[in-house]
Amino acid sequence: MKKVISFVNQKGGVGKTTLAFNTAHALAKKGKRVLCLDLDPQGNLSYLLSRGESRERSIFQLLINSLKELKTLHLPLLVSETLVRGEVDLIPAGQDLSGFELTVSGVQFPRPLILKRFLENSGLLDRYDYVIIDCPPTLGLLVVNAICATDGVIVPFKADEFSLQGVKHFYQMLADIKDMGIGANPEIISLVPNMQDLRRKSENDSLTTIKDFIGENEQYMSQGFTNKSGILRAINEKKSVFHFESKEFLPIKEEFGALGAKIEEWANV
Ligand SMILES: Nc1ncnc2c1ncn2[C@@H]1O[C@H](COP(=O)(O)OP(=O)(O)OP(=O)(O)O)[C@@H](O)[C@H]1O
Ligand SMILES: [Mg+2]
Repeated sequence: MKKVISFVNQKGGVGKTTLAFNTAHALAKKGKRVLCLDLDPQGNLSYLLSRGESRERSIFQLLINSLKELKTLHLPLLVSETLVRGEVDLIPAGQDLSGFELTVSGVQFPRPLILKRFLENSGLLDRYDYVIIDCPPTLGLLVVNAICATDGVIVPFKADEFSLQGVKHFYQMLADIKDMGIGANPEIISLVPNMQDLRRKSENDSLTTIKDFIGENEQYMSQGFTNKSGILRAINEKKSVFHFESKEFLPIKEEFGALGAKIEEWANV
């Protein structure tokens, strides 16, 4: 079954973490077992989901420990020691993850597949309905690892003059990864316009340009999220929008519910 989903865009600040966090809760709300995996050394998703646990136990340590050549240089660490349990579970990231590329530069094992093999061997895929990966704003080795381990990607973007460039680079990277012939074949689940203000002509123009670029794949374009103060308020309180009962949150919950439903539909095809 398809279950590993990455939130990707090399552009920073487009809402990857915010959408990953709330979508994870939307799926948990439907009774799904969800694991969030933070693959961003900034650790934003870890901050939102942790309750002050130490970041020394992080995905970096687990990945390094999964490599024969490096294992002996590092303290052994179990997945269970790293997992932060909650409504949705978390494997956190710390600043140490920024040294990943350098640390693994000499290993024999195919470097793009380190995360994929770790996930397969860890037993985590059997324990969760969905694994949601939050990616850093780059197209470096960490993101390549995420894509190779992923069944489907969600690309949040802001409809501005740079977004088409970002979407083009992303399509190119997907094509390159598929061409590598290493068995990675991630599907696009959705391109999600975020922080939309469609009253602005320039945004409408940018959105049309992107739709023209993706052409026949237009069905991938989601309804999108407007700029909602509720989303920001929830993030500031380290809560998902589903933790709020007031009426103002109803439309945002519905929007995240719709993205959750899109994922469910994709996963069950
Ligand atoms: N729809 C929205 N409405 C209002 N604020 C939003 C919305 N989406 C995201 N934000 C806010 O925008 C900021 C950037 O979002 P976020 O950190 O999720 O982006 P990101 O793509 O993960 O950034 P980075 O590339 O640095 O990891 C955050 O303060 C977030 O709370
Ligand atoms: Mg982020």
